[in-house]
Amino acid sequence: MRTGLEAPAAPPHQLEEGTEAVTLRGVARRFRSRRGDVLALQGLDLTAEDGEVLAVVGPSGCGKSTLLELLAGLGDPDEGTVAVAGERSREARLTTCAYMPQRDLLLPWRSALANAALALEAQGVGRAEARRRALPLFERFGLAEFARALPAELSGGMRQRVAFLRTLLAGRPTLLLDEPFGALDSITRAAMQEWLAEALRAEPRTVVLVTHDVREALYLGDRVAVLSPRPGRVVAELSVDLERPRPRRETVTDPAFAALEERALEALEEGGL
Ligand SMILES: Nc1ncnc2c1ncn2[C@@H]1O[C@H](COP(=O)(O)OP(=O)(O)O)[C@@H](O)[C@H]1O
Ligand SMILES: [Mg+2]
Repeated sequence: MRTGLEAPAAPPHQLEEGTEAVTLRGVARRFRSRRGDVLALQGLDLTAEDGEVLAVVGPSGCGKSTLLELLAGLGDPDEGTVAVAGERSREARLTTCAYMPQRDLLLPWRSALANAALALEAQGVGRAEARRRALPLFERFGLAEFARALPAELSGGMRQRVAFLRTLLAGRPTLLLDEPFGALDSITRAAMQEWLAEALRAEPRTVVLVTHDVREALYLGDRVAVLSPRPGRVVAELSVDLERPRPRRETVTDPAFAALEERALEALEEGGL
């Protein structure tokens, strides 16, 4: 399958041997509000290797989005260490990661195509060229007719796909995806998952994928981390030893897939769903 992502979308990874792509060690994150403090994460340890797809699942409110915000450089932990490509500074995190927040942040005055192309413009590509390069992806994602529409004219699922495209086009070595397909109907969602798996096979990147969908986590992940309820910490890590490529039907009907799903669900329950 051609992924339609034109090279050079992502620089090849060049981490020194032994350098973790993503590191969270002993992380705590607290929010202060008028109604008192909220401890979102505590004692969280998690790493991802270069080129690995790490899926993170956990109950609502357990701190999954907070974890991605820390990795993206939008905040610092109250305790512990957060690093990307071995660099702890917020600046390094801000420039290494392409972050897709849970709520799409499309610019309302720019067309869908212009929003996606923004990621290329930020890398110095001219405006017209950026749009020319982004357009094939709109076609592939069934958005061609809507390329010139404004975000307000799109459904939630379409906006999510545009935001996802923009994240991919940013050409960063690490992707942080917060429930990227949550607003999509199940058929589109399955197609997007397959496309992402293929795109990552063609051009490996380190991915931290947050989802509340265990099957999505297993289908896409090399590893799945299960978080406890708030304050979130890792209660189980599962290696997803399923061959790639992963044709959907064969993969989800594989008894090994069902066994992993069972283990992940058990871990969620034990953590106190
Ligand atoms: N900026 C913030 N200010 C106050 N509380 C916050 C803030 N961000 C998150 N929280 C709280 O931290 C907890 C974890 O939130 P979040 O990371 O969004 O969870 P999840 O993504 O797993 O649903 C929740 O209780 C949430 O209300
Ligand atoms: Mg969230």
